[in-house]
Amino acid sequence: MAGTIRPRTGGCSLTALSIVRNRRDLRAALAPWRAAHASVGLVPTMGALHEGHLSLVRLARSRSDKVVASLFVNPAQFGPGEDFSTYPRDEARDGALLEGAGCDLLYAPAPGEIYPPGFATTVSVAGVTADMEGAMRPGHFAGVATVVAKLLIQAKPDVAVFGEKDYQQLQTIRRLALDLDLPVEIIAAPIVRDADGLALSSRNAYLTPDQRAVAPALHQALLRAAAAIKGGGRAEDAQATGGAALLTAGFDAVDYFELRAPDDLGRLGPGPVAAPARLLAAARLGRTRLLDNVAVGG
Ligand code: PAF
Repeated sequence: MAGTIRPRTGGCSLTALSIVRNRRDLRAALAPWRAAHASVGLVPTMGALHEGHLSLVRLARSRSDKVVASLFVNPAQFGPGEDFSTYPRDEARDGALLEGAGCDLLYAPAPGEIYPPGFATTVSVAGVTADMEGAMRPGHFAGVATVVAKLLIQAKPDVAVFGEKDYQQLQTIRRLALDLDLPVEIIAAPIVRDADGLALSSRNAYLTPDQRAVAPALHQALLRAAAAIKGGGRAEDAQATGGAALLTAGFDAVDYFELRAPDDLGRLGPGPVAAPARLLAAARLGRTRLLDNVAVGG
């Protein structure tokens, strides 16, 4: 049965957004929409919502008659020592934000609904996951691909929206949907940034004020490198200069600063770059990893 979200302590409901917690209730909520030939858009999330997530909901709203958001902090995509147990969880707040952005239904499955006892299947996408985040976070993309495959199969949306902020994840999900013939259109939503250029991320909340002051240097370094490459500079020089600029700006470590093919994220040959490409970087401020990327050409 669909319920509504209530705050943890007394008072009235924060939102009238309907919420379902298992597949049976999800199917029941979707059935009348399907019967009315309404198209359905899915926005998978792990909660801790910010304006970036809400832009995904608005994009889904503009591309489908009904919007379902999922909220599931997926244990399978966190590595040992990562922030699964401390990941911010506030369903009432997230529900109110989703409703305000035009979401019609929240699917917040219990862990056992996604990973029932005896669960033994992993969806693993090769190639596009081989390095960058795939190398830094072993098992991460298998966790993402498995949960996203399940959510797409459970909700059977016509479209599903993912942010370009996690660009390697987006291309992994595109590959997954293509390879498994999932009847869904994967839509990419542009990165939403703070006024100083920092890409919005739930993990920005972990930054100290000093780290937050350094963080916009990531986007600036990417933009400078993209401009250098577009101006005829060699990719390898722009990558090296970009990585060094991050350390000079105050980042503690640079995990990668890479120019890649925009679809399969394959490496590009040395020298000037003629075709459209994607510049991706990840760098650390203390224990917080920041990811960002920009288009180059195209
Ligand atoms: O991008 C995220 O929030 C997660 O990786 C996703 C796609 C919801 C899968 O858990």
